Amino acid sequence: MPPTAPASSTDTKTLIERLGLKPGHATIVGLQWGDEGKGKVVDMLAAEFDAVARYNGGANAGHTVVVGDQKYALHLMPSGVLYPGKVNVLGNGVVIDPEQLVKEITGLRERGLSIDTSTLFISNRAHIVLPYHKTQDQLQEAAYTMPNALDQNVEGIGTTGRGIGPCYADKALRSTAVRVADLLDLDELRHKLHRIVPIKNATLKALCEYTGQSHEPVDPDALLDWLKPLAAILAPHITDTAGLLHEVTKNDKRILFEGANATLLDIDHGTYPYVTSSNCSSLGAHTGTGVPGHQVGNVIGIVKAYQTRVGGGPMPTQLNDATGDRIREVGHEYGTTTGRPRRCGWIDLVALKYTASVSGATCLCIMLVDVLADLPELKLCTAYKVDGKVVDRFPAVSEDLSKVEPVYETLPGFAGPVDQCKSIAELPENAQNYLKFIADFLGVPVVLASVGPKRDQTAVG
Ligand code: GDP
Ligand code: IMO
Ligand code: MG
Repeated sequence: MPPTAPASSTDTKTLIERLGLKPGHATIVGLQWGDEGKGKVVDMLAAEFDAVARYNGGANAGHTVVVGDQKYALHLMPSGVLYPGKVNVLGNGVVIDPEQLVKEITGLRERGLSIDTSTLFISNRAHIVLPYHKTQDQLQEAAYTMPNALDQNVEGIGTTGRGIGPCYADKALRSTAVRVADLLDLDELRHKLHRIVPIKNATLKALCEYTGQSHEPVDPDALLDWLKPLAAILAPHITDTAGLLHEVTKNDKRILFEGANATLLDIDHGTYPYVTSSNCSSLGAHTGTGVPGHQVGNVIGIVKAYQTRVGGGPMPTQLNDATGDRIREVGHEYGTTTGRPRRCGWIDLVALKYTASVSGATCLCIMLVDVLADLPELKLCTAYKVDGKVVDRFPAVSEDLSKVEPVYETLPGFAGPVDQCKSIAELPENAQNYLKFIADFLGVPVVLASVGPKRDQTAVG
């Protein structure tokens, strides 16, 4: 049994001090394929920051925060909303599904949280996900996976179907985009929708013809009527959030940037094409909010103690055996957004060395450590074998990643339960050795080990 020592003297320090963060802002970023437990760490740190700013993604994200016996599944709302009086920002890099956002605002208000014009700010530069984006997302996936003359089984991206790719594609196309600022001028938006919707209908019709599916053409006026009540609820929260964050910075206040999705899902640096459509590495925090990189001295890399992936794409350490099933069941590895079972496997340090560099992690939080308790041994992938040769570099091409064979280091397991450990030194020795191996391999300190979903199930320092 691990010791259950009373709170140590370090408990009088703030969490910022216990994590050894430098003064100033911090970015929280996932270093794997998502669902690392970012929501829990953002929630805990939000107590000591002045503002929390989401910088990328949309309702494809699912961030879980557990407070006492209450569970909150946040998709769009920044995970700082559970603390009263914080400034919560949805930055320009986020794609906003107005129906989902209103649902979340209403749901949180019903649970007694004060979401008002002093606590929620939505960037007027952010882009809007409309229902036709979700239709296009599903049709595009169906079209891409259609058998063709050369391939009968095409692996899809496995998107969440939340319209993320089509919305970011429209952002890049510009002429078919709708931005949050457009919700403030409904007369002009009507004209815009009359220009955009026929183009969208033509795209959807072509995809329907190719896939043999059907879809009613969208009526621009009906779409506007649907949007009006949502726009009325969101309008008071819409502002120039870049300007707001610059003011926060000027007043020496601290911003916590919340990354959705994760570095291996980054459109530029992830396992393309099996990625999402935004810059979800820490690099996106700057384009996605308008706050420059040199102002953010802390990048907190969030790492699950093992590896999971949902959707398509290669995963070298995936376990298709009883250990993989055990990790899935003990870790409740089913998607927060789609409920899909997540693929589970051993931690991949080759991938992590790459993502820690791309995102510039200055410290690490290792999450769900409790899930590994009572396994006889723990494996860590330290290199890949390609055509019999050992390599330590993470490949840029997914086809190459699908061909690698993991090379493992094996460490002895540790006994549970560990969920009462309040410091890393209280963890069983073998668990500490596991964390030390990760820190040494990556050359980045492990400052927090999470041992359960609740705030107080956390070992720091
Ligand atoms: P996010 O997308 O990175 O915020 O992560 P998700 O919320 O999608 O998935 C993480 C899941 O693990 C959630 O259900 C959390 O409540 C849960 N969780 C977080 N930390 C821990 C932990 O240390 N142990 C256990 N057992 N569960 C955890
Ligand atoms: P959080 O923030 C896990 C994955 C999807 C799919 C791919 C593209 O909860 O960690 P998309 O709908 O974005 O076009 O899907 O990316 N994906 C995630 N996987 N956690 C997430 O977010 C994800 N966001 C996107 O499963 O494979
Ligand atoms: Mg998630």
